Amino acid sequence: ERPDNLATTLDVSTMVDPDGGLVDRGIFTEEAVYKQEMKRIFARSWLFLAHEDQFKRPGDFFQTFMGEDPILVSMNRKKEIKAFLNSCRHRGARVCRADFGTTKNFTCTYHGWSFDLDGNLANVPNEYAYGEGFDKKDWGLVEVPNVQSYKGLIFGNWDPNAIPLEDALGDLRWYLDAFIDRDPEGTTVVGGVMKWVLDGNWKLAAEQFATDWYHVNMSHASALMVMSPTGRGPKKEIAERPGKQFVSPNGHGAGFPVHERNRFDNSVVHDYYDYDALRERLGDKRVTGPMTNGHATVFPSFSYLPVNGSIRVWHPKGPNKMEVWAWTVLDKSMPEEVREAQRLHNLRTFGPSGIFEQDDGENWSECQAIAGGFITNRVALNYQMGIGTEKEDPDYPGTTSELFSDAAGRSFYRKWRELMSTPAWHEKEGN
Ligand code: FES
Ligand code: FE
Repeated sequence: ERPDNLATTLDVSTMVDPDGGLVDRGIFTEEAVYKQEMKRIFARSWLFLAHEDQFKRPGDFFQTFMGEDPILVSMNRKKEIKAFLNSCRHRGARVCRADFGTTKNFTCTYHGWSFDLDGNLANVPNEYAYGEGFDKKDWGLVEVPNVQSYKGLIFGNWDPNAIPLEDALGDLRWYLDAFIDRDPEGTTVVGGVMKWVLDGNWKLAAEQFATDWYHVNMSHASALMVMSPTGRGPKKEIAERPGKQFVSPNGHGAGFPVHERNRFDNSVVHDYYDYDALRERLGDKRVTGPMTNGHATVFPSFSYLPVNGSIRVWHPKGPNKMEVWAWTVLDKSMPEEVREAQRLHNLRTFGPSGIFEQDDGENWSECQAIAGGFITNRVALNYQMGIGTEKEDPDYPGTTSELFSDAAGRSFYRKWRELMSTPAWHEKEGN
């Protein structure tokens, strides 16, 4: 515990104007804004940690980040999933350097302090040298106080007063379920976690997945051409496709075309599914909408693509850089060969060198590369598409807008501004 006297707080309230649809590029480039995001957004939001399928027996662990904080997620002897700050309480080295694995304990390689699967300091070499006043109980790993799962997806939150994960997800669950609840058996992780580094602020990716279908026809034109059976690229009905965007008051967003013949792009997966059964389970609206095509963001930095089973985290690495971590998550009941076909399809489309993923990454790096120019930085960006189109629609839970709209982007930045402008739990007395 220490007073947060190293922190200076920046007033960012004028940097975004969600109602007017304007965004100041300083939010993508300024170190002080970035620091405040770590403090006021990442230190108190539900952040994706891992998939439950990655932990099968006690001692299974996976290393990740919450913001820039290194996190160790592991299964203890009671088969509970716990998350700890991966930093030794002695001089601060990581107590685990492997990306994932199975272990009996976490032993720091600097001086050898060793922690059990519940984070307790279990062994200290030459402990006698500390004398009487030293108690191992006081020096366990710092535990993330909230770890909760939603249908296999594990999230953590540092805020001791965080609202439950399900409430934070809110109406997004209806849309998300069309991806992760197609199979009564749940989902499984196929293959490893793909990781790559991109020049670009983390928000460029997060907001795009929340709100931006508008880029698809232009940015992905060549990829769409490759994928189309005629090789002729997007037809008029695709380029002008109707669809919906879900706009969450908690900053999440999801966009998806709506079509009676909504199908999976991968023909092996398309042939595998029984669409009548899917309609029975999910209802018509979800099968014709968010079940396949589309993308979404859980505020702040977790996104997914149901059409190929990709989930990803945009890990912030300074204002100008992000590290993308992507998993392939598929129905547990899918036979091996269908899974493998979908894993390869995901790799080809949205893996680090995927034909779609490269288009997106290129755009974010392009926008970032010039955003720091002094004059450039002063010129506001336009998030005005579909202003005023947000509405309640009895067919879709929550508030929705049209497919081509910035509504969820405006909502993303409304939430961003709210969190950036209010003190977090650790800024209050006694924390
Ligand atoms: Fe971990 Fe010293 S830093 S034992
Ligand atoms: Fe894209």
